[in-house]
Amino acid sequence: MSEAILTHNGREYRLPVATGSEGEQGIDITALRKQSGAITLDPGYVNTGACKSAITFLDGEKGILRYRGYPIEELAERSTFLEVAYLLIYGELPTAVELDAWTDSIRHHSMVHEKMRRFYDALPKEAHPMAVCSAALGALSTFYQDSLDPRDPQQVMVSIHRLLAKMPTIAAYSYKTSIGQPRLYPKNHLDYASGYLRMMFGTPCEEYEVDPVVAKALDTLWILHADHEQNCSTSTVRLVGSSLANLFVSVSAGICALWGPLHGGANQKVIEMLQRIADGGDTGKQFLERVKRQEEGVRLMGFGHRVYKNFDPRAKIIKKACFNVLEQLHVQSRLLDVAVELEEQALADDYFVERKLYPNVDFYSGIIYQAIGIPVNMFTVMFAIGRLPGWIAQWVELQGDPNFKIGRPRQIYTGATERHYVGVEERG
Ligand code: ACO
Repeated sequence: MSEAILTHNGREYRLPVATGSEGEQGIDITALRKQSGAITLDPGYVNTGACKSAITFLDGEKGILRYRGYPIEELAERSTFLEVAYLLIYGELPTAVELDAWTDSIRHHSMVHEKMRRFYDALPKEAHPMAVCSAALGALSTFYQDSLDPRDPQQVMVSIHRLLAKMPTIAAYSYKTSIGQPRLYPKNHLDYASGYLRMMFGTPCEEYEVDPVVAKALDTLWILHADHEQNCSTSTVRLVGSSLANLFVSVSAGICALWGPLHGGANQKVIEMLQRIADGGDTGKQFLERVKRQEEGVRLMGFGHRVYKNFDPRAKIIKKACFNVLEQLHVQSRLLDVAVELEEQALADDYFVERKLYPNVDFYSGIIYQAIGIPVNMFTVMFAIGRLPGWIAQWVELQGDPNFKIGRPRQIYTGATERHYVGVEERG
């Protein structure tokens, strides 16, 4: 086994190096503090591997993304979201019999507890659907108390099926509540995406016909979002799960992390940015100048990635899908024109080239969502539905990890040294 040598305060420490199946190397500092008294400091965990994982491989320099070894391009082209969910969670593609049983079970657990339906009435109409979904998943743990033990494989299995099956229902109800329409019961004969679309856009007054082009587009987008190794929301799910909290609340925390505009919330911000440009607020050029001046709060949303420094393979697929879907639905999008122009200008600009900033998964996804009628405040919820299998797979892997430990980073304290309490009357 190779090792790294660290010299600190005149002493030498030999640190083992772990090598992954794709040759990635990690200097193992597990014993460092015990041996040296020092910790490592890595704000934003830019260089820190928090676990070994066999789920998703990505190479940010080469633009590679694989789930359980399968290239994302092949899965997006040939698989379905529920099959990919099975692959991520169980590690192998299902046989035809396994896939049938899996799909059937997910379809038949889509209804939520009747009291849970009424839970939505207590929340303000204007609530952001991400907040509502997070609250609803937390609430699931109060309704399904028979499946909360992270160390009982049978209970975990039940909660996985419940979570995946009920997530589209929960998401659609958050939207229906916000527009004051009745919440529909799920229809189990529909596929995952179609069932969701019907609950989103149908009403009890008439049958809703799902457009197969729209359902297919959504299914593909969900495949592309299904996992992305140790990103902010997945690390949150793992951290919460590491306290042995149940799967429902761990995923609820992941939804909160995903909501932020630097993570999944970027898809909503992208469309708002494109809309402002389309409305004539700034021209694309003027907007990019503001980005480059690094004005407070102004970034080219949907660009840049912590890991991808060449291109984001998901963005490539989504851009192509975007043109296809718009063509098939005969939709003209001014925002697509603005996005293409903005991308071209940015990719030809030294500021973005030098910093290796490329379109990420969020740059074009919002345009597809818009074309298929998803309201802007539901964009990040679409991401959450897609990311659910990844969160589950990573949580399950954590629970079975032979090196399982509660997640608990350390710090370098920079505050006041010891001082003594002074009564309020004596303070100057
Ligand atoms: N627009 C303008 N400048 C940017 C952008 C951007 N989108 N992203 C990074 N930069 C600049 C930074 O200002 C910094 O410049 P400097 O060196 O002159 O200070 C440099 O590029 C490095 O940026 P960091 O913020 O240090 O990179 P980091 O890896 O921490 O951030 C992130 C990655 C958060 C995704 C960032 O690129 C960003 O804010 N992008 C916009 C939001 C976005 O699209 N998020 C979705 C990411 S994908 C996902 O989560 C699903």
